[in-house]
Amino acid sequence: MEKVIILDFGSQTTQLIGRRLRELNTYCEIVPYNKFPADDASVIGVILSGSPFSVNDAEAFKPDLSAIRGRYPILGICYGAQYLAYSSGGKVEKGDSREYGRAMLTPILADPLLTNVQPDSQVWMSHGDTITGVPDKFQIIAQTQDVPCAAYRIIGEPTWGVQFHPEVFHTTVGTTILDNFLQLCGAKKDWTPANFIELTIHELREKLGDDKVILALSGGVDSSVSAVLLNKAIGKNLTCIFVDNGLLRKNEFEKVLEDYAHLGLNVLGIDAKEYFYRELAGVKEPERKRKIIGKGFIDIFDREAAKLHDIRWLAQGTIYPDIIESLSITGMTIKSHHNVGGLPEKMHLKLVEPLRLLFKDEVRRVGRELGMKEHLIKRHPFPGPGLGVRILGDVTPEKVRILQDADDIFISGLREWGLYDDVWQAGVILLPVQSVGVMGDERTYENAVALRAVTSADAMTADWAHLPYDFLAKISNEIINKVRGVNRVVYDVSSKPPSTIEWE
Ligand code: XMP
Repeated sequence: MEKVIILDFGSQTTQLIGRRLRELNTYCEIVPYNKFPADDASVIGVILSGSPFSVNDAEAFKPDLSAIRGRYPILGICYGAQYLAYSSGGKVEKGDSREYGRAMLTPILADPLLTNVQPDSQVWMSHGDTITGVPDKFQIIAQTQDVPCAAYRIIGEPTWGVQFHPEVFHTTVGTTILDNFLQLCGAKKDWTPANFIELTIHELREKLGDDKVILALSGGVDSSVSAVLLNKAIGKNLTCIFVDNGLLRKNEFEKVLEDYAHLGLNVLGIDAKEYFYRELAGVKEPERKRKIIGKGFIDIFDREAAKLHDIRWLAQGTIYPDIIESLSITGMTIKSHHNVGGLPEKMHLKLVEPLRLLFKDEVRRVGRELGMKEHLIKRHPFPGPGLGVRILGDVTPEKVRILQDADDIFISGLREWGLYDDVWQAGVILLPVQSVGVMGDERTYENAVALRAVTSADAMTADWAHLPYDFLAKISNEIINKVRGVNRVVYDVSSKPPSTIEWE
């Protein structure tokens, strides 16, 4: 399968480059800046990403590009473009008038990279440096008001550079430029959900033969799509297990089992509520709660799997962002939540991960192509430890009941008001706070809950969702009137960073 390689120099938008190319039906892989896969005959082009560094920084990444220059079409983006110039003898300096954010791009030479790019097209800049000394053979093809060398090509080799970020949403001609680059790579653009499904089913059959496979379902989109793909490939040899840990949303266990039955999956639903409540009794510390829930899950899963015979493989819904070897330059490592981490080792099973090459939006496209219902595909992310990390302090069945009831009102409300799909994730947090209220003639002294709803693209950063006041008023009223034990509702207006999405 043909692919474009994205060399990662540590920019926050590197993954976005990957997603944009995939949206253009072209397969690509992100690798660290110094790990170009030299022996891979399927590479058709290379993109050099941006970076938090300046090429003039001592610690900046400066790989030898001689093995790829001239051999593949190359597009340098931001730092990538500056590094190509710098390593060819050019000069890169801090701009006098640093151009950040929006700028208007105007082509000054006809070039295939800029086909269909009109004068004054909006682009997005995010670097303090600019190319001031343009090396020989570099020909400027576009400029902005403050940046004379906003895009260039190198004469005699298929290499281009752009100072702005074509991958970000605010660059309105970004997709056009990336698409032009793919043309220059001769891309066939046949990476489609339908092709992925056909290829994966074929590969799964080859790999698994008549072996039996077990899969842990969480109700989320990744494990569900993995299950449906495997079901198509190996049918009855797949057994899925869905554990009720007592920390799911209200009626979630029943609803999800019903959905899976519709999909023709062979699912064992295990009610382990009492076990988890017992293990969690009196435990307040968040990380300990997480560990107990994670270990409990592994123990239950292992116990149930042992009742089945001849299982050889464990299937997991790992997706591409989980496996990209990310450059943790800024010290901001991605918080990874491998809830079933430890299972493969414990069970001596081989791992099969049918979605390991896909981004989240691709998983959704594949799910749709497989005929899965929208409400399963668009379901908000939900943490593995579930309501366990949304009850601050110790967990009791009564607190779970209160939280489930409040959460159900909030989530159903979002759906009814048509707001659910505008929000990345939402939920209610039960606070370890009692406050005074008055209901009828009575003073009350009951719990406070916080509503949390965020917008995000990948959970790495998030903003609080600006939900309508009318909606918040209605939900707050309904929760206080209907949920016994709650007399106060607050709305969380913190963004991530510096806060996180969950409270624990
Ligand atoms: P934070 O709270 O770190 O959350 O901003 C980012 C995303 O991860 C989810 N999350 C978890 N998911 N196990 C999971 O499977 C966990 O322990 C866990 N903690 C947080 C959170 O819901 C959000 O989508």
